[in-house]
Amino acid sequence: MLEVMTWLESSALAGFLRGLGIWTYGLLNLAHIIGISSLFGAVLLLDLKLLGLWRSIPAVSLIRPTVPLAAFGFVLAAISGIMMLSFNTTEYHGNPFLYIKLPVIVLGLLNVAIIQRLAAWRRAAAGLRSEPGDQRILASFGSLSLLTWLTVISCGRMIGYW
Ligand code: HEM
Repeated sequence: MLEVMTWLESSALAGFLRGLGIWTYGLLNLAHIIGISSLFGAVLLLDLKLLGLWRSIPAVSLIRPTVPLAAFGFVLAAISGIMMLSFNTTEYHGNPFLYIKLPVIVLGLLNVAIIQRLAAWRRAAAGLRSEPGDQRILASFGSLSLLTWLTVISCGRMIGYW
C-alpha cells in the first residue's frame, strides 16, 4: 500500500495539482462534496423507494432520474477524491478510515452491478408489473446500498480526524 501511495504522491498529476496554487485543494474538496451530495441524494431517494416507500409512485419514475444523477455524483467524487489523495498521499498511510472506505466503495459498486442484472430490477426499470418476491429482493439490495454509502460517507468524514 505504501508503494502505491508513494507513487501517487510523486506522480506528474500530484505535481501539477500542487503547482496550481493554494486554492486547488479547497476547490477539489468542494467538487468532492458536490459529488457526494449528488450521489447520496439520488441513492437515498432510490433506496427508500426500493425499501417500499411511496407505493403510489411507480419505481421507474424514480429510477430514471436518480440512476444517472448517482453515476454523475460518483464519478465526480471519485475523480476529486483521487486528486485530493494525491496531494499528500503518504500522510494517509495507516489511516483506518481510508482503508475501510476504499473497499466499501468497491462493495457499493458491486451492489449496483449485481442489482442491475436482476430480473426484479429490470421489471421495475421497464415499468412492468412486479412478480411475487420482487419487493423483498429489491429491498435487500436497497438496504445494503444505504449501509455501504453511509459507511463511505462516515469514513470519509473521519479520515481527517485520525
Ligand atoms: C476513489 C474514490 C475516493 C477517494 C480516493 C476519496 C478520497 C478522499 C480524501 C483524500 C478525502 C479528504 C480526507 C481528509 O484529509 O480530510 C475525502 C473526504 C471525504 N470523502 Fe472521499 N474519496 C472517494 C470517494 C468518496 C465517495 C464516493 C464518498 C461518498 C459517498 C466520499 C465521502 C467523503 C466525505 C464525506 C469526505 C469528508 C469531506 C469533508 O469533510 O470535507 N468519498 N475523500
